Amino acid sequence: EDVTDEVPGPNRTQNRAEETEETVFRPEHGFDNAPDTDTTLAHNRAWGREILERARDSHLGEERIEASRLETEEEVDAAVERAREAGRRWGARPASERAEILRRAGGRLGLRRAELLEVMASEAGKVLDQGDPEVSEAIDFANYYAELAEGLEDVDGAEYHPVAVTVVTPPWNFPVAIPTGSTLAALAAGSAVLFKPAGESRRCGAVIAEALWEAGVPEDVLQLIQVGEKEHGRRLISHPDVERVILTGGYETAELFRSFRQDLPLLGETSGKNSIIVTPNADLDLAARDVVNSAFGHAGQKCSAASTVILVGSVATSKRFHRQIVDGVRSLHVAHPTDVRAEMGPVIAPPEGKLARGLTTLGEGERWILEPRQLDETGRLWSPGVRAGVRPGSEYHLTEYFGPILGVMTAETLEEAIELQNAPEYGLTAGLHSLSSDELARWIDRVEAGNVYVNRGITGAIVRRQSFGGWKKSAVGTGTKAGGPNYLVALGNWTRRPSRS
Ligand code: SER
Repeated sequence: EDVTDEVPGPNRTQNRAEETEETVFRPEHGFDNAPDTDTTLAHNRAWGREILERARDSHLGEERIEASRLETEEEVDAAVERAREAGRRWGARPASERAEILRRAGGRLGLRRAELLEVMASEAGKVLDQGDPEVSEAIDFANYYAELAEGLEDVDGAEYHPVAVTVVTPPWNFPVAIPTGSTLAALAAGSAVLFKPAGESRRCGAVIAEALWEAGVPEDVLQLIQVGEKEHGRRLISHPDVERVILTGGYETAELFRSFRQDLPLLGETSGKNSIIVTPNADLDLAARDVVNSAFGHAGQKCSAASTVILVGSVATSKRFHRQIVDGVRSLHVAHPTDVRAEMGPVIAPPEGKLARGLTTLGEGERWILEPRQLDETGRLWSPGVRAGVRPGSEYHLTEYFGPILGVMTAETLEEAIELQNAPEYGLTAGLHSLSSDELARWIDRVEAGNVYVNRGITGAIVRRQSFGGWKKSAVGTGTKAGGPNYLVALGNWTRRPSRS
């Protein structure tokens, strides 16, 4: 029921440098996915180059971050108390007022597109064409959740009660789309938000918060916070007045939160180990492109990324297909995002642990088709790696690495491929490349993932068209889907209305 059959409208022609409140804020059009920047237009390319110039020495958001630190347990308690009071008032306002503020927030985010791209490149290593759709997605969340907020009061037989305090703890890998989406969802649902951006992307968080405050979200309804010490994090999560926690991050973080508090009201989207199956009935040109983009977009640091490609039957022995993958990967320009040619940027920190192992060691029977190499002295810039011969049940097959590595597995039949695809404990995204409707039917019946894609890359869900959430260990707590019709429903509480008869 999550899917609409409308197709996105054509990209509006934009000149990003000349956008105004009127061009980005158009609620009278109803919901319409915000267009990404059209970089076939020379003026938009010039606009992008200026952004990257500024990103070389950017301090956007720094002051806000300094001011947002909670240094003591008393400060944590005071922030929760302030949110509780503010949340009660906010939740009592008519949904239409909250919706209006959200739509204005969409407009403010649009006007800050350049700043958001600057801070994403400078702080989180996002290359421009990976950051740009994030801003569009953030705007989409604003407009879509505004629409859903208005519907929340109209459910037959049940009465909606907003919670007062929601804690939002997003990751650094989508430093704009995910924090904005989670924060706006809670605000739309009538809750105050304690927004704690990831340490690696907190300046992005500050710019988002500013845009939302400008739009009319009161500063006590949305508090930007940084938690000084680990114990303060525990204090925050276990605080009895915190009624919801929206976490997007690693499975281990969800476990940690649950160890702080057993009855934790958690909406968690956690970890993935995702793959794309390519059968002999696929359009192999399309498949090669989608595999490369899904594996190496943002250097593989997406919970939705393709970590493995599973080649079925004759595709497994197709030299041509292997060459297409290798050529596609080799052609990626790897550089820091301030280099205008960069297609793949750095990893967030010099690799350690699992990722270091994944980049430097092979399991039994595996060999590098492309061996990853460290490209500069920061330790963060790596060329993408492709390994073949990954065996069922091996460490590579089952582990999430969160970096620029793709593993190749093979299967005799589609059924065998599906077994390999379903073997990891996570179930976030999964893809099938095949033009056979019979294969599609067999696959869709058995695939175990929250988000399934056919003949398309497996990252970059589009708000309202492809709601996004996990299955198996990719969802912890209430497994509800972001950007879909039921997301806000799970953020508040419901009671049954007495029946009239
Ligand atoms: N929504 C992102 C994607 O679809 C992941 O969080 O790639």
